[in-house]
Amino acid sequence: MLSLPLEDKTPPDWQLPQDSIIESIKKPLRLAIYPHYLKMMSPILRQRFAKFDERNLPIDQWFWWPRGFEFELLRYRLNQIFTINSKSVLIAGCGQGRDVTTWLKYKPSQIVGVEYFNYRRSWDLFTEKYAEQVPIQFIQGDLTNLSDIPDNTYDIIASDAVFEHLKDLPAVLKEFYRILKPTGVMYATFGPLWYSWGGDHFSGKDNTGFNHLLLKQEDYLTYINNYERIGVTYIKNFLQENMFSYLKPYEYIDALHNQGFSKRWLGFAISPQAVDFFVTHPTIAGSLTQKASILDLFVCGISVVYQKRP
Ligand SMILES: C[S@@+](CC[C@H](N)C(=O)[O-])C[C@H]1O[C@@H](n2cnc3c(N)ncnc32)[C@H](O)[C@@H]1O
Repeated sequence: MLSLPLEDKTPPDWQLPQDSIIESIKKPLRLAIYPHYLKMMSPILRQRFAKFDERNLPIDQWFWWPRGFEFELLRYRLNQIFTINSKSVLIAGCGQGRDVTTWLKYKPSQIVGVEYFNYRRSWDLFTEKYAEQVPIQFIQGDLTNLSDIPDNTYDIIASDAVFEHLKDLPAVLKEFYRILKPTGVMYATFGPLWYSWGGDHFSGKDNTGFNHLLLKQEDYLTYINNYERIGVTYIKNFLQENMFSYLKPYEYIDALHNQGFSKRWLGFAISPQAVDFFVTHPTIAGSLTQKASILDLFVCGISVVYQKRP
């Protein structure tokens, strides 16, 4: 592997996340209600927004962000498309490791998390707590070069909130394709996308989610720095390290096809705030369309299940 930052980045006061009582009641309710809600909403959204998709992509589900984009529902949907039970899962860009918990109930044969930064202390806590349910391992590694992993190793490669941060998506997809078994699937959910409302993961904390596209660079830096006091260091790190892919929706889809993947399922999420902004600020919105299409500005999240062989 390439040389990677060695220092353990786990924050000193970090503890395993735990749902509040209210959240543990809401979660199963959302899981019961949202599939029906999404089934009802998708045709309504399609009718309203498909006209902006000039390429007429085969989109299976339209979302009204962020409804339906939560981890539990995304796993549930993937499991309907490709059974997770007894399959080997590689979680790409697992961060501190919170992603693993939502896979456990489907009883995969093993879970391996790969992450660029070292979060060893956090990973050890997850492994200690959950490894009796499913064998779990965390590896520090760069997704653009997974040469320690042999070809055709995993049934499922999964990532949440990672693609929008990759500097070299084609290189990562090439590795995913190589290490997936011939019958395997690649699942990814990503967003906000750079050209969408809040695409810098920062704007939109107030009521202008397109600041990163509208402001001159110096004004944008002032805007960001004025938020010092509310503890957004984590997001600023992404901006300072330039950890954004800057791709538009069609470019993500093209990258998947260029690598040889074929579609099993595709979902596009529309940003309600972006739509509202177009209604309330038509002139400024018009200037944004010089930089990106309406689809690019409206679609803030994408979820995909693609397979290695047709
Ligand atoms: C927004 S975080 C999401 C983390 C985790 N999936 C979650 O949802 O909590 C994106 C993660 O992708 C990781 N990442 C980005 N580029 C990477 C690369 N080339 N190799 C490995 N990890 C990478 C980042 O370090 C970061 O932890």
